[in-house]
Amino acid sequence: MMPGLSLDLHEGADRNAMADTMDVMTAAFDPVFGEAWTLPQLAGVMIMPGTWLTVARLDASPLGFALVRSVLDECELLLLAVAPLWRGRGIGETLLRDSLRTARRRGITSMNLEVRATNNAIQLYEKIGFEYVHRRPGYYRGSDGQLYDALSFRIDMGI
Ligand SMILES: CC(C)(COP(=O)(O)OP(=O)(O)OC[C@H]1O[C@@H](n2cnc3c(N)ncnc32)[C@H](O)[C@@H]1OP(=O)(O)O)[C@@H](O)C(=O)NCCC(=O)NCCS
Repeated sequence: MMPGLSLDLHEGADRNAMADTMDVMTAAFDPVFGEAWTLPQLAGVMIMPGTWLTVARLDASPLGFALVRSVLDECELLLLAVAPLWRGRGIGETLLRDSLRTARRRGITSMNLEVRATNNAIQLYEKIGFEYVHRRPGYYRGSDGQLYDALSFRIDMGI
């Protein structure tokens, strides 16, 4: 893990954590794909039981986050993002591995995710051991009207 990086787990309507997350969100997602969430969308999910947010910070500055929602023994990686200037240093991988550890601690046995078929994040998911499940043609619509397929991936963690 990068020296000095802290990973903080947040649950519920934590305003500071959500503000930090929105800072990264705004910088991290290309507006062309319309994938960034708004603060009300984030707040709506944060108050649901079984949701947790992990924020990576360096000297209190947020650099990345992972958002996971769980139901019983399954969970879904809803969002994973690292601020552009901080990419390629292992922060995304650290956040994802930490989310999997948190899931395991909670007795969760699998994590699912859905990603645009043209997203480089797929290489991270495959590196960690996620397996391709299926393709949804034209699932995402970019701001230019172009349609992009979604791929779903899953990792089974056993018990
Ligand atoms: C995906 C994302 C979170 C990766 O964060 P990151 O901190 O740069 O990733 P890491 O440095 O931890 O990369 C770990 C591994 O992932 C893969 N990877 C990450 N980014 C990659 C890229 N752009 N191209 C190819 N492989 C990549 C590599 O295998 C890398 O391992 P390596 O360094 O040993 O080669 C970041 O690019 C991002 O925020 N993207 C925009 C938001 C997004 O689309 N999120 C995913 C959908 S919610």
